[in-house]
Formats: sequence, structure tokens, C-alpha cells
Amino acid sequence: MSDRLGKDQVAALLGWFAARQRSLPWRMAPAGQRPPYAVWVSEIMLQQTRVEVVVPYFEAWMRSFPTVEALAEASEDEVLRHWAGLGYYRRARFLHRAAQELVAAGARGQGGAAWPQSAAAWAELPGIGEYTAAAVASLSCGEAAPVVDGNVKRVVARCAGLELASDTRALHRESAAWMAAAMELLPKAEGPGAWNEAVMELGATVCTPRSPACAACPVADGCHINDGRGPEDAARLAEAYPLPPKAKNWIELELVYGLAACPQEGGVLLVQRIEGWNPGLWEPPSLVRESSGASPEDLQAAWQGSGAPGQLGEELGVVRHTITRHKIQARVHLLETPADTAYQDPSQVGLTGLARKILRRWV
Ligand code: ADE
Repeated sequence: MSDRLGKDQVAALLGWFAARQRSLPWRMAPAGQRPPYAVWVSEIMLQQTRVEVVVPYFEAWMRSFPTVEALAEASEDEVLRHWAGLGYYRRARFLHRAAQELVAAGARGQGGAAWPQSAAAWAELPGIGEYTAAAVASLSCGEAAPVVDGNVKRVVARCAGLELASDTRALHRESAAWMAAAMELLPKAEGPGAWNEAVMELGATVCTPRSPACAACPVADGCHINDGRGPEDAARLAEAYPLPPKAKNWIELELVYGLAACPQEGGVLLVQRIEGWNPGLWEPPSLVRESSGASPEDLQAAWQGSGAPGQLGEELGVVRHTITRHKIQARVHLLETPADTAYQDPSQVGLTGLARKILRRWV
């Protein structure tokens, strides 16, 4: 069996995609002819999380920032507020900054001649890596730029039977070559955008990480894993592909948070993070706890020494959170604050993911 798909399999996957694709708000026109603004926003959001989670965020975003000018003119806080819940706020900041650069370069509305016309031009904007550049260029202007994301790598590793770990450059390279080879075999009526989207869709809905639906796969006859096995055996074997990534080196951190809420006004004492993860976002004041055996007195002294406001009171509980390489155990305490404390309405600022967990549980 060849490592590459043949012409009939390429056509079969496109036929399956035409019939079975999910109806999604950014698929408002055939792949290759969509407004770049919507494609770009949706692709950045889809890097964060699953399609079902992204849909309401995308719709709210488009209501508030329907054009690149509206996004460019919005305040950073407003942009971050629309992003809250999607994680990695850096991506939202880059979207905002790129919108300003696009407008400065003459781009208006949702698309048009002044918008980037190639993956290379998209890749010059902040926050646009190889994946996004290829996705936006293929879906908005039909450039034959292969996308390589987690779904694509899984489909390729299985179809071509590649014994490669999911986070290796080798799998990335092989996947790009496999996608480009298939693009040479597209039927006349189909463009590279449809191909990119069809493979991603197959990975998201059929060739899933666990319990793939091999019996429903349109390219099972071109798949190394499926080769001669029944769909149940194939599905069991497929789960081992691609090989697992190398383990991350986690940094474990214990943090103490002080929670002060004003019951009359519904406000909470929040401070803006200035360094480390999520700079610019808001959360209750906190302290990195250096030694987990510290007594309450030591803790209070450390709290005051750090310049954090108020007096720590009883411990309410523990919240766990991971961000980048940090595994955080957050001990949340009540915070006693002076009468003139200024509280904030948490719905009006961009909150860190950990702050949202804390406020959901106790406020
Ligand atoms: N994941 C990211 N972008 C996608 C798209 N356009 N279609 C399907 N899955 C995707």
C-alpha cells in the first residue's frame, strides 16, 4: 500500500466532506472564497479549543467586532473580555495588534484587495504562524498551502502508518508533504482550501484520538492502519498513532490568593498581572508560597512583605490550574480589607483563567 492517497481516495474524502461537514458560522461560503476576516478570527479561536466551544465566542465576537476596523478601534480590555474563557490571551492581543496593522495598511471590512493575498503575507502579521497562514490563505483565497495541525498529523500518521511521536518535526514534515501530494490530485471543481478543511474535519469527527469511527471512514481503503483488518481492530490499533509526545517538564507552584468581595456592590478586589503568565489580565491579589510548611504567621508576614493589600483570613479551599508548563495549586483565603478598598466588577475586565475558577466557586 502506498504511503500517499490516490486520486479516488482524494475524491472520496472531498465527497464525504461535501455531504457530512458540520454547519459552522464561519463556513458561510465555499472554502477558498470566504472573507479573510472571519476565517482568520475562527482559525485563531480554533487553536484554543473545540469547535462547539468556539461557536458562541465567534458569534459574539462578530457581533461586537464585525469588521477589522471595529476590532482595531476596540480597547484591549474589551477585546480580552470577549476572549475570556478561550485561554491564552496572548492570541487575542495579537489579533488586536494585527487588526491595527491591517487597517494601517489599508484593509477594510471583512476582505478585499488590500488584505494579504498569500500565506507568506499573512505570516508577517503578529500571532500568525505557519498553520494559521496556510489555513487563512487556502480558505479565503484558495492558495495551495497545506495546513498541519493536530488533526491533520493524526490522520496522516494513521493513513501512512508513521511510527512518529505527535510533537516531532519529522511528523510535521511528513504531514505537510502528504497534504501537498494530495493537493496535486484534486478534482477540477475543488480547491486546496476544501482539501485542508476536509482532512481537519475527518480528524475532528471520524479519525478521533480515541475510538475512531473506522467503519465510517471515507478513506479506509487507503489507510495503513485499516489494511485488511476489520474496523474494530483498526480502531483499537489506530489509537496508538501518532506515538505519544515526550513528557513535559512541569513546574509545580503553590500560590496563595486573597479573596475580598463586596456583597453590596458585587465587586471583587482585583489586581492586574504585570509579569509571568497572562500579563495585563486581572485576578485577586496573590503570593507565591515558597514553603508549604509555613505557619499562618509566616504566611501573613510574607503577604504583607510582598506589598499585597489586606490581612489573610481563613482558607476557603484549593483550586488547581495548569498554564503553559506550570502546575498551580492555589490556596484561596478570605481577605480582610480596609473600608476604603476599591472593588471592581469582574465582568468588566479580562480575568485570568484561574481567577475565573476562583470567582465561579466563591463569588
Ligand atoms: N480546525 C481548525 N480549523 C478547522 C476548519 N476550518 N475545519 C475543521 N476543523 C478545523
